[in-house]
Amino acid sequence: MIQPEKERLYLDYAATWPMRPEVWEAMGAELRHGFNPASAHAPGRRAHRCLEVARGRIADLLGCPRSSVCFTGGGTQSDNLAILGFVRSHAGHAEHPGRPGRSPRVFVSEIEHKACLEAADRGAVEGARVARIPVDGSGTVDLAWLRRELATDPDAPTLISVMWANNEIGTVQAMGDIVELGHEYGALVHTDAVQALGKVDCDLERTPVDLLSATAHKLGGPVGIGLLYRRPGVTLEPLSYGGGQERSMWPGTQNPIGATGFAAALALALEGREAEVARWTALRDHLEARIRAEIPDARIHGGDAPLRMPNLVSAGIPGCDSGAVLVSLDFEGIAVSGGSACGSDSSVGSDVLDAIGITSDLPYAAVRFSFGHETSRADIDAAADALARVAARVVALTA
Ligand SMILES: Cc1ncc(COP(=O)(O)O)c(C=O)c1O
Repeated sequence: MIQPEKERLYLDYAATWPMRPEVWEAMGAELRHGFNPASAHAPGRRAHRCLEVARGRIADLLGCPRSSVCFTGGGTQSDNLAILGFVRSHAGHAEHPGRPGRSPRVFVSEIEHKACLEAADRGAVEGARVARIPVDGSGTVDLAWLRRELATDPDAPTLISVMWANNEIGTVQAMGDIVELGHEYGALVHTDAVQALGKVDCDLERTPVDLLSATAHKLGGPVGIGLLYRRPGVTLEPLSYGGGQERSMWPGTQNPIGATGFAAALALALEGREAEVARWTALRDHLEARIRAEIPDARIHGGDAPLRMPNLVSAGIPGCDSGAVLVSLDFEGIAVSGGSACGSDSSVGSDVLDAIGITSDLPYAAVRFSFGHETSRADIDAAADALARVAARVVALTA
């Protein structure tokens, strides 16, 4: 017999934020006008207007010129464009090892998303000198280390890429300090603000990063559209060629309907941000208190970071198999994400948890709860109850 679909509790907003009704309404109004904005005819011109209205709205919300907003297909593409675009714009130097000290340098934090880590690794293959900035036990980058490294070769073209907020443990970096330090040494600063935008204050005037990656689906917009903000005057080498769209930075037929959704989602996120941050912080603290009360040996990863995401809790439960916990929570109707800490010699596990020093020879479950505009205190209590039940069951099975 087919069972009726169970009421689900979605607590995985950091993976994808459910699209907000106002966003699909805004996109719906444009759906039947979804033509190619590069076409010269009337439908094409209308699509072009729609794209440019969205770009203008986003630029106003970010507080930057429209020409600084380059639409891409998402956060991964924006991160690659920032890092590899920087490396390739200095490729002439990289190809001439006879000019030591002038090949580009890229510093990425140890806890970056794979989009940045792997783009930087690729940059190393193409001649850049790449180093990973260590973090402390809370996931906060070591600025003293960075200062020492920057001072060793102050004339080299340098990019620092540090995510504004971490997607696994929610640590928020002091981006203002990072930008100040980077600029003191003439470096460009890129930030992956995919998780931060709409939740953390990402004011470009107060925190003048040079490059910023964002994506619509992490703030209530559609999947498949992102952006790279580029401060006026910052040059990058494009990663692909043909067509000339997005000022040749990201050529290919553009997505006016996605851009419309992105603009609507960003407006909503920023409009309600301060009130929501206060509400989420209370929910976060309540969830952590409940987890600590129910599972006394649980850890809260990144819990002692000076700056944290208001809507994300990463809990670690020793003696518990990660897969079993996630599957059991799914059976209970609760959608969350994992992450696991294994022995440092293990190939399966989370680089982020390794970087903050969580290693374990025993099974260790890491569960990430992330929430948003639809989450209530009752939802948080239901999740804490379910986690306590599931952890007790899995620990008993694992023992
Ligand atoms: C911090 C961070 N950067 C980049 C990405 C990739 O974004 P997208 O899914 O839009 O490619 C993600 C998505 O998980 C993320 O959390």
